[in-house]
Amino acid sequence: MQNQPILQVKGVSKAFPGVQALSDVDFEVYPGEVVALLGENGAGKSTLMKILAGAYQKDSGQIYLNDQEIELTSPHHAQTMGISIIYQEFNLVPTQTVAANIFTGREPLYGGAGRILKMVNKQEMERAAQEMLDIVGAHVKPTDMIRSLPVAERQLVEIAKALSFDSRVIIMDEPTSALGDEETQNLFKIVRSLKDQGRAVIFITHRLKEVFEIADRIVVLRDGRLVGSVPAQDTSIDGLISMMVGRSLDQMYQKETAEIGDVVMRVQGLTRYGAVEDVSFELRRGEILGFAGLVGAGRTETARLLFGADALDGGEIWIDGQKVSIHSPEDAIRAGISFVPEDRGSQGLVLLLSVFKNEVLPTMSHFTRFGLLDGATLQQRAQEYVSRLNVRTPSLEQKVMFLSGGNQQKVVLAKWLMSNPKVLILDEPTRGIDVGAKSEIYALMSQLARNGIGIIMISSELPEILAMSDRVLVMCEGRVTGIIDRQEATQEAIMAYATRHASVQGTI
Ligand SMILES: Nc1ncnc2c1ncn2[C@@H]1O[C@H](COP(=O)(O)OP(=O)(O)OP(=O)(O)O)[C@@H](O)[C@H]1O
Ligand SMILES: [Mg+2]
Repeated sequence: MQNQPILQVKGVSKAFPGVQALSDVDFEVYPGEVVALLGENGAGKSTLMKILAGAYQKDSGQIYLNDQEIELTSPHHAQTMGISIIYQEFNLVPTQTVAANIFTGREPLYGGAGRILKMVNKQEMERAAQEMLDIVGAHVKPTDMIRSLPVAERQLVEIAKALSFDSRVIIMDEPTSALGDEETQNLFKIVRSLKDQGRAVIFITHRLKEVFEIADRIVVLRDGRLVGSVPAQDTSIDGLISMMVGRSLDQMYQKETAEIGDVVMRVQGLTRYGAVEDVSFELRRGEILGFAGLVGAGRTETARLLFGADALDGGEIWIDGQKVSIHSPEDAIRAGISFVPEDRGSQGLVLLLSVFKNEVLPTMSHFTRFGLLDGATLQQRAQEYVSRLNVRTPSLEQKVMFLSGGNQQKVVLAKWLMSNPKVLILDEPTRGIDVGAKSEIYALMSQLARNGIGIIMISSELPEILAMSDRVLVMCEGRVTGIIDRQEATQEAIMAYATRHASVQGTI
């Protein structure tokens, strides 16, 4: 490592209406270094990175690139200076091809620049795109549409795009939050090779374990201020938690024993061709049923079928012993099924509406008295969940689009927790959520279970599955390959079922 930072920030501050997002922050990164940037939801991580990427303007402070003070005026400007960012919410155009996304605004033209009639040389663009895709090992074609690609591949396209600018500093905002273990390892391989090429990588994550796998140095923000910068080998997960939260968390997983009651939901032979095949299980009151499996195993697809988001090709669903027919999310909500989707940005929230309106959308009917809305009760409940989940917002009236990524997710959770369902399906409930709020969500799940709600928790984090589930249902390639009791559930048992096809073994 050289001892001159490639990029340095001194005394940067940034305010939004009602929020001081950053106060007097110093930060630097060296060539060939991987820095993990940590902090609770709303701590200011994305804001700091957006300033470095030219997307936001700082209110005060200085930025130096190779010891030269610079003003970054736009994302394009930052990119040409060699700073690229891969956003928490991706920044690709879904309806365009991979190649068009990589070279947007820089398309190679026939006959070179200066021609009056500018025609994009598609062949050249696709060749150049392929070159970048090969470097990151993406198994996609330059002509593929972005919208047809899974998250992991989209991310590789973003990295390919950063490399096409020959970026010296590459910022990744929660790149692993939507990835499974294998995809994460693949991403780390790429990060290490970027590092070996002398590039600097800044990496934001809420998964503390992976910090130690990939980072050389860890920088922690709290409430918009720098708390500290430490070499990764000089700290531990507990050390990081107390830096982030300002206290230590004695118990992360707050699993309590709830009384397991009658069957609240029975599912028989659920099928959607090409996605889910013959899925059957029972869920009891007070039970947390973990759904484990690799990315793409059919867990989210199953949830979408139960919620009426996709049409069934076969199968039956009973709630409280009554067969229900679910053709839409409205049917599902009426039957008492709530679903907190994994892709909360696009499916769970109305970004232009306030925190309050988002929270109460599905709940309205519960609070209507004599046809009038009991506004005060509603406000009180909405505020209660905002406080419990520690949603950082200046008020209930703030538009959700102005909240940090993790705080948006908490609002979606709040909205469904308020709706008092019989069956609550949570898809990756703690993705992108900081450690403090995570343990609060586990506590809430325990409380809901104690109140007799049946909970399905889809999760790719095995420690979370093991700690919180009463039983674990494992899927592989659209089928249920095993249902394991809490006592028998181990990481090895789950992985064995997750990588094996149902037809190979006959235990269920
Ligand atoms: N465009 C904006 N308008 C108003 N407030 C904003 C805007 N962007 C961010 N904020 C606020 O600034 C604070 C810092 O947000 P930021 O997105 O940087 O947090 P973060 O550390 O990235 O959190 P997370 O882990 O949840 O992604 C938050 O209180 C957020 O609501
Ligand atoms: Mg963020």
